[in-house]
Amino acid sequence: MNNTARHIAIIMDGNGRWATERGLKRVKGHEQGAEVVRRVTVHASNHPEVEVLTLYAFSTENWRRPKMEVDFLMRLLNNYLKKELPTYIKNEVRFETIGDISRFSPALQEQIDKMKEATKHFKKLTQVLALNYGSQDEIARAAESLRKEGEEITKERLEERIESSKFGPVDILIRTGGEQRLSNFLLWQSAYAELFFTQTLWPDFGPEELESIIEAFKKRHRRFGGI
Ligand code: FPP
Repeated sequence: MNNTARHIAIIMDGNGRWATERGLKRVKGHEQGAEVVRRVTVHASNHPEVEVLTLYAFSTENWRRPKMEVDFLMRLLNNYLKKELPTYIKNEVRFETIGDISRFSPALQEQIDKMKEATKHFKKLTQVLALNYGSQDEIARAAESLRKEGEEITKERLEERIESSKFGPVDILIRTGGEQRLSNFLLWQSAYAELFFTQTLWPDFGPEELESIIEAFKKRHRRFGGI
């Protein structure tokens, strides 16, 4: 058996609980979560197999959180991008996003574009942040664009139109924080993904646990619908 961990996708859950357990404000959990994003990204960039790391950073449903928390997450993302650009350059990580960022502030959109532009030639790892992302919407939009053009809606055509499809199928889908659901994340691309659910809260996650998941993935028998 030779499973290749080409594309790893992670639902980063548990920041709020991590902070609350320590008597801290929820946003402190997000701050620590951003540190883990950096560590896991650097580790993945040095892994010989991993080519794509997609992280669910903000879902279309996350707007429902208190304004103060949403504002904090936006600021945190902006600061993270500003601070970590040298890390991405040093580790040859290309930065990409999926989702509709047009609802973000112009300053944040500019920072995102700048990061994409500055890293677009790198090939060691592509890190994709899912920002204001929802999978059902994305699939529906792809189908609607085909319909408008009078095109037949086939699996192949849909796949071409789904924005996040360009990063290829997901091999390993991880959710931290103990819940066992997909929460509208990469539904199309995860059709044959191997799923891993861990109790570890995202701020406590790290390269070691990622490695043990990759090791467990290697032992799984992937059949892709065959026998
Ligand atoms: C889930 O924890 C996490 C989020 C909604 C946001 C993810 C954000 C980060 C990991 C930090 C910032 C990211 C970047 C890229 C700088 P939760 O708040 O739902 O935790 P809970 O389930 O314990 O409440």
